[in-house]
Amino acid sequence: MKIVENIPLNTAVMEELISDPEDLDLVWPVAHWPFDHEQWQQVLDPEKGAISFLVHEGEILIGHAALDRAENPATRMVRFLYIAPEHRSRGAGQRMIALLEEYARDRLGAKRLELKVRSFNSRAMRCYEKCDFTDFFRKDSLVMMGKDI
Ligand SMILES: CC(C)(COP(=O)(O)OP(=O)(O)OC[C@H]1O[C@@H](n2cnc3c(N)ncnc32)[C@H](O)[C@@H]1OP(=O)(O)O)[C@@H](O)C(=O)NCCC(=O)NCCS
Repeated sequence: MKIVENIPLNTAVMEELISDPEDLDLVWPVAHWPFDHEQWQQVLDPEKGAISFLVHEGEILIGHAALDRAENPATRMVRFLYIAPEHRSRGAGQRMIALLEEYARDRLGAKRLELKVRSFNSRAMRCYEKCDFTDFFRKDSLVMMGKDI
């Protein structure tokens, strides 16, 4: 597996990849449907510190991820994680997070990763727990998890 910076930002490929409205809602609960390119261009604006990645297994595009700035400059937010349905539950999410962690630590000097997940998204929760993320904040269905790297 490899993660490749999505530069210049190509949201058309993301629209093709995240083609199910329920998945889009899990990836970003406030995302508009149908896929709104302007909304994604704003949230993934590299000028605001976001880095979008396309995830490849061999030659095949299987997912998307992003690293974003957090309030604390030593922390990066892991956002917009997505693995295509046919590749799920086989460890791809965990391998993708390991690559993001390596990038954040080695290229961005990050000391900590944080993310938001919904408590009902048990597959995602299990994936993050297996990557050694622990929860530090819960409100309703929102769970915030973090990991020192
Ligand atoms: C969340 C996501 C990125 C994780 O990627 P993945 O490749 O499926 O994750 P992994 O296979 O590495 O890990 C998932 C784990 O949950 C387990 N799992 C699968 N379905 C599950 C369920 N319904 N409940 C609990 N665990 C479940 C898998 O077996 C695996 O655990 P294991 O390694 O012990 O077998 C991917 O499932 C996805 O894109 N989901 C839809 C969008 C989404 O939810 N994005 C994240 C928003 S925060």
